[in-house]
Amino acid sequence: MPLLHRLARTGNPVIFFTLDGVPCEGRAGDTVLTAVLCLGERLRHSEFSGAPRAGFCQMGACQDCWVQLAGGERLRACTTPLTEGMHIVTQRRRSDG
Ligand code: FES
Repeated sequence: MPLLHRLARTGNPVIFFTLDGVPCEGRAGDTVLTAVLCLGERLRHSEFSGAPRAGFCQMGACQDCWVQLAGGERLRACTTPLTEGMHIVTQRRRSDG
C-alpha cells in the first residue's frame, strides 16, 4: 500500500524510471521521494537499524532520504526532481560493503 496518494499532477506527463530494477512510473514535477512513496510505503531501510524509512523533513535538511543512482551517484530523494530514465537504487548491494 503506497504511503502517499496522488491528488495533484495527475494529468502531468508520465516519467519512466526504475526502482531497484523494477520499471516504474511517476509524473512530471514529482521529486524522487514523491514518486517512490506513491508506489510503496518506504523509501529505503536504515543503514543502522534496518528499519523502514520514508524521509523526515521533506526539505533537504535531515539526511534521511539518501538513495543512489545505479551509477553510484548519491542524491537526496526529497529535493531531487524525478527525471526520465533514472535508475534509482534503495537497496545496498552486498558488494557495496
Ligand atoms: S527527507 Fe530530510 S533531507 Fe530528505
